[in-house]
This record gives sequence, structure tokens and C-alpha cells, in this order.
Amino acid sequence: MLVMNNSNNLSLPVIVAISGASGTVYGIRLLQFLLENSFKVELVISKSASKVAQAELNLNLSTNPTLLKEQVLSCLDSSTSKKEELLNVWAHDDITASISSGSYRTSAMVVIPASMGTIGAIASGTSDNLITRAADVFLKERRRLILVPREMPLSSIHLENLLKISNAGAIIAPACPGFYHNPQNLNDAIDFVVGKVLDLIGIDNSLFKRWREKFNLPALK
Ligand SMILES: Cc1cc2nc3c(=O)[nH]c(=O)nc-3n(C[C@H](O)[C@H](O)[C@H](O)COP(=O)(O)O)c2cc1C
Repeated sequence: MLVMNNSNNLSLPVIVAISGASGTVYGIRLLQFLLENSFKVELVISKSASKVAQAELNLNLSTNPTLLKEQVLSCLDSSTSKKEELLNVWAHDDITASISSGSYRTSAMVVIPASMGTIGAIASGTSDNLITRAADVFLKERRRLILVPREMPLSSIHLENLLKISNAGAIIAPACPGFYHNPQNLNDAIDFVVGKVLDLIGIDNSLFKRWREKFNLPALK
């Protein structure tokens, strides 16, 4: 008899959810890395995230998932955009999407960046759009859910919501780039955050220089 468990099977798709906090670029960079390295991705972008993408990256994103997929692929470099078969894009309100069911198998879900609005909805279990529903599924199925909040300062409500979600099993990985790897530019700072997220999913990467790494260590499992 086969026994199912919730250990990370990285041949299963990773859900990348981009919500309306500042830092759309973190989500795009994660998506780019995953596709470049042949991981399957299920992508959801919230309504507010589209507005933030417009303000921060001058991207005018469609609400139609087919068009949205083309737009997202065209902002990645050409070698990555050829990997279009690895990417599924869902409308943020499509509650009939595969990823809204626990029966659909996935390896990890990352909300990057995670707005305080989305964090509040996940903490209270409202499941009011595809991102919050998929996150709810991850918590109930005890799968690896990683949230990358971006806000400052934090209110007691934000902190309580983050603690509640952490207690329910998610990993809270704030978008706080370190400086001990001597970033030379913004891309280095972005890659630090995305590299740490990849570590948490269990995906080997060299997006940032690790502290005093001297030995040739084995790849992450
Ligand atoms: C340019 C811009 C930047 C924003 N930055 C943040 C932020 O860093 N953190 C945050 O929690 N909300 C931020 N917001 C507010 C959220 O977009 C807003 O609360 C929204 O309702 C979140 O919706 P969502 O969680 O469904 O994406 C920002 C909004 C705009 C327009």
C-alpha cells in the first residue's frame, strides 16, 4: 500500500501568489528562477498586486489569465519565456481553479510579497479569493506555506495575525534583505530575499553569498 505524506515533492508545482504589498519584483524574480530551473508553477496575482505592478514596474497586467500569462512571460528573459508549458496562470477570483482544492497536489506555496490585507484574510480563514483559499488549503493539508510580508512599521494586529499563521504551521519570511553578503546593487538585495525563500522551499540555489561558506557542501534535498 502506498502511504501519502506531506514531505516536499519538488516535481509537483509550486504556487506563487503575488499580492498587493510593495515589492512585486520579488514575486517576478522567484517566478523567473523557478521557470529557468524547470519547476512547474501555478501563478495567482491579486487585483491590488496588478495596481502595485503598474506603479512599481510599469506593467499593465490583464485580469484575463491567458493574456496575463503572455504578459508575465514577456517580462522574463527570452530563455525563460520559452518555458511557457511549465506555467499555469489563474484569475485571482477563480475559486474553481485546481489549487483551491486539497486534492490537487502541490509542493509549496509562497505568497511574495504578502500584503497585510492578505495576511489578515489568511489569519481569519476567510478564503475570499484564490490566494487566501489556496493558503487555507495549505494550512489544513499541513503543506509548506511561506509568506513574505512587506510592511513597516507593523501594528499589533499585523503581529497577531502573523503569529496566528505561524502557529498554524506557515513560515513567515519577511522581505528583509541582509547586508552581510555585501550587496552591490538592488538585484543583489532582491536575490538575497528570493534565495532565502528558495532555501525554505528546499530548492538549491546560489542567488546570494552565504556567510563564511568555505566547504563545497552538498545540494539541498
Ligand atoms: C503602491 C502601493 C504599495 C503598497 N504597499 C503595501 C505594502 O508594502 N504592504 C501592505 O501590506 N500593503 C501595501 N499596499 C496596500 C495593499 O495593496 C492593499 O491593502 C490591498 O487591499 C491588498 O490587497 P491584496 O492583499 O488582495 O493584494 C500598497 C498599495 C499600493 C497602491
